[in-house]
Amino acid sequence: MLTVDAVDVFIQASHILRSVSLGVGPREVVCLVGRNGAGKTTTLRTIMGYLRPRAGGVEFRGHPIHGRRTHEIARLGVGWAPEDCGIFGDLTVAENIEIATRTRPGGRPATERIELAFRVFPMLRRYAGRKGPELSGGERKMLSIARALALDPELLVLDEPFEGLAPAIIPAVSEGLAAITELGRSILIAESNIHHVPEYTHRLYVIERGAIVFAGAQEDAWRDPGLARIIGSAT
Ligand SMILES: Nc1ncnc2c1ncn2[C@@H]1O[C@H](COP(=O)(O)OP(=O)(O)OP(=O)(O)O)[C@@H](O)[C@H]1O
Ligand SMILES: [Mg+2]
Repeated sequence: MLTVDAVDVFIQASHILRSVSLGVGPREVVCLVGRNGAGKTTTLRTIMGYLRPRAGGVEFRGHPIHGRRTHEIARLGVGWAPEDCGIFGDLTVAENIEIATRTRPGGRPATERIELAFRVFPMLRRYAGRKGPELSGGERKMLSIARALALDPELLVLDEPFEGLAPAIIPAVSEGLAAITELGRSILIAESNIHHVPEYTHRLYVIERGAIVFAGAQEDAWRDPGLARIIGSAT
């Protein structure tokens, strides 16, 4: 589904990503874990076309997407919920979700996609008429994921989806994401808090100073003392 192959990314003169490779298969949930500043957001922004790799490439469903524009990548079926939510402040919750259905027309009808977004985040239904600035940080986070969902994506790319959410609602959001994979979709999550990594994650990648230092099962990462130190402090 998604293949990031030996990507090198520079921001100005700084070499930020060093030969980063990762893969997300159909119906897989994959987590990219690392400390603050490790390169998670940079990896996701490269996938989404905001940054162009100097070497290596990104393929989505067998087609190279590096160098393509973000809206084209979205239209191909990659839903994106950035770290800062990126919602439209002067639109209501319902409008924010509705507008996403237009980014990628076709497939499932818009009403069905909107219904799915509200089913995964029932709290948003109550606030459907509220505008961005009237939402709490956690509600904005949910809206940003709901909006990515309304795109009807094959792959959801979520940057710190659990950050700022009350511990009491994290399980509900996590179950919502699991339900999405049951619909045949894939999810790539960037997390700085290892405790937020859902237990149904198929594969974990650990990134440290711009390089992937581990790829495998979550329990194997904990068994490696060097890695346990990295991910244990990645909170
Ligand atoms: N626009 C920029 N200009 C210069 N350096 C940048 C820029 N964006 C990111 N960096 C640097 O790239 C490195 C990786 O940043 P990135 O945002 O990818 O980290 P992250 O793993 O997402 O961290 P966090 O958990 O804090 O979100 C950091 O050292 C950061 O300072
Ligand atoms: Mg980040």
